[in-house]
Amino acid sequence: MIYNSIRDMVGNTPIVLFHQQELPDCKIYIKLEGMNPTGSIKDRACLYNIQDAIDSGRLTKDKTLLDASSGNMACAIAFYGKMLGYDVEVICNTKLTQDKKQFIEYFGGKCTIKGSITVEGNRKCAEIVQTPVGAEKYCFLDQLHNWANPKASYETLGPEILKEFPNVTAVAGSMGSGGSMCGVSTYLKEQNPNIKILTSQAAPGTKIPGTGGFDDGDYITPFIKKMMDESLYDDTVKISQHQAEERTKQLASQGIFVGFQGGGVLEATMQACKRNNLSGDIVAIMGDSGWKNMEKLNKLI
Ligand SMILES: Cc1ncc(COP(=O)(O)O)c(C=O)c1O
Repeated sequence: MIYNSIRDMVGNTPIVLFHQQELPDCKIYIKLEGMNPTGSIKDRACLYNIQDAIDSGRLTKDKTLLDASSGNMACAIAFYGKMLGYDVEVICNTKLTQDKKQFIEYFGGKCTIKGSITVEGNRKCAEIVQTPVGAEKYCFLDQLHNWANPKASYETLGPEILKEFPNVTAVAGSMGSGGSMCGVSTYLKEQNPNIKILTSQAAPGTKIPGTGGFDDGDYITPFIKKMMDESLYDDTVKISQHQAEERTKQLASQGIFVGFQGGGVLEATMQACKRNNLSGDIVAIMGDSGWKNMEKLNKLI
């Protein structure tokens, strides 16, 4: 494959069969979002958020890109900001790994830490752009409230899945901002309301990257609210740290090298398929690659 630009390499991520005997009537396929240029699903939303800001006139060449993130979106903003010629400042939180911090800094992004969840940084960004100096300096992308975020998956990830699996039974993924699954689900249910959408959540007291723990008060964004209000997911499974770790290791044993979010999604997929008696083609979306999580994966050895 020859590309004109790295931007053209976002999306159309590969899909691989997960070999398993637990669910003989299901074929579980793994969509490897870690194969995007910055190694995560967030490349899609990042580019849509930036393009939307350019198209609406909010982002001019003199502005610094600003957003809050637990890591993967911050990496994407630093990377595409560099490519497109914008300065970047991100407010991350204690979930940020050293791998991701170093990536952000390598691409010239300025990274500060606030609190333990993304919404704390998001509120700080909102405060900054309310001051005259902040309004002049920054373009706040606001991934938690920006509808360009779910639009990215509505227009890319959802159609990619249906193109490969016209008869897909169910699609599984996690909700951080909820943008990815909101977009995927809205698209797929418009095309075929019988397609089941399965989601993973972090069980109370558990922290899994890219996976909201809504019982513990993680922020319910407008996209997650839309999913709840409009029944855009059919089943949701609360995952413990141990379950996510075991599934992440099981994936690795087949060379499917993903972060804990992926292990959590696989556990949710297996549980939800079992309890809903699902069969046929099932697609589980893995949000990032193991490379971005070595610091945490190393603790499993
Ligand atoms: C690895 C990973 N997977 C999935 C997600 C969920 O994406 P979204 O924010 O679109 O819900 C994230 C978000 O941070 C993530 O980092």
